[in-house]
Amino acid sequence: MRMYDLIEKKKLGHDLNEEEIHYIIDGFTNETIPDYQMSALLMAIYFQGMSDKETLALTMAMAKSGDMLDLSDIKGIKVDKHSTGGVGDKTSLILAPMVAALGIPVAKMSGRGLGHTGGTIDKLDSFKGLSTKLTKEQFIENVNTIKMAIAGQTANLAPADKKIYALRDVTATVDNISLIASSIMSKKIASGSDGIVLDVKTGSGAFMKEEEDAFKLALEMVNIGNGLGRETIAVVSDMNQPLGKSIGNSLEVIEAIQTLKGEGPKDLLDICLQLGSYMVVIAGKAKTPEEAVILLLETIENKSAYNKFKQFIEAQGGDSSYVDEIDKLPKASIVEKVTLSETGYIKAIDTEELGFATMMLGGGRETKDSQIDLAVGYIVEKKIGDYVAEGEAIALIHGNDRDKIEASKKRFISAFKLSPEPIISTKFIKGIVTKNGINRF
Ligand code: URA
Repeated sequence: MRMYDLIEKKKLGHDLNEEEIHYIIDGFTNETIPDYQMSALLMAIYFQGMSDKETLALTMAMAKSGDMLDLSDIKGIKVDKHSTGGVGDKTSLILAPMVAALGIPVAKMSGRGLGHTGGTIDKLDSFKGLSTKLTKEQFIENVNTIKMAIAGQTANLAPADKKIYALRDVTATVDNISLIASSIMSKKIASGSDGIVLDVKTGSGAFMKEEEDAFKLALEMVNIGNGLGRETIAVVSDMNQPLGKSIGNSLEVIEAIQTLKGEGPKDLLDICLQLGSYMVVIAGKAKTPEEAVILLLETIENKSAYNKFKQFIEAQGGDSSYVDEIDKLPKASIVEKVTLSETGYIKAIDTEELGFATMMLGGGRETKDSQIDLAVGYIVEKKIGDYVAEGEAIALIHGNDRDKIEASKKRFISAFKLSPEPIISTKFIKGIVTKNGINRF
């Protein structure tokens, strides 16, 4: 087999078979296929697309390019959750303890922030002493004893995806649905859970700006997961504004703790209940999502989810007194109001810009080696449909550097678009995708 012929084949719009896809992925992982040939193939895929069969083969080949985690030592049905990335998305910190409090094993592999989006592993760095670098044995032991563990992805989990992703990033081939679906699903398949609940975000702060594309991506991932014997469900949710009110690592941890105490924002609790209800159903603890929501709400009311979160922080070496005493979490030295020069109803928010504004404060990485400032970020006080009166704050900025604050604030403010007329807000949960197809709300 020759890579040249396979590039030619895809260029002309023919499907690659399983053997050819394995040849490409193995060759690229062990560096017998150079970057320039892989780049040419990615561009051919970008223009010609891939069939469902090809996408499934690509997912499996990338999953098998490194370690395939065997979680069979964990008792019970293990369900994972994955978000395609958003701004202010602290869902995992709330959902994992809620589900684990019901006795369902949550074996969660999470990532660090990517571009304008945040990552669970960075947020957890807010707890002194906490480690997300667990050995496989520790990971399994923690899930067996306390029902939850959150670990960073090991270097050898789907290494082919890591290399291909880096190439896509610099060859303008990221935004292809088959490539995104196989990239995400290869990591989920390699990390070994029995069931997968996906939170596919759509809107200005998401990877998929158009709702139609988000549904297509969701359907493709659901088909891959179910095709490989992992029960997979996707929820398509709105990312045209930040989730909850806080953006920034420590601020998001605080909001997650407030939500676990029953004092969080409604949109954040709603998405946790939606995603959680499918995790509970897949795990066999409830017959219907409605029944599961009741069980999940009980974990907030009886404080079992809050206590589970503390237990998890402790089990991974963190200081759980930070949960009761949130003042111990990283705090910025400067907190001030953000105001607009106009008045009116908030019509639109360029949410990706809010992510970049947080990054400019130091809350995200400009380069892969940047040090994150965990304390900085925003508390967004006004969202779509809200009226902003003269001089009224739309947000509070938390920063540690005057120059960064000024530059970030400018970018944050320019993301808000106002209207003199009241705005009718759109649906937050757009629909559900299961192996039976798409159900739009
Ligand atoms: N996240 C991933 O892991 N891969 C993609 O291609 C896009 C988002």
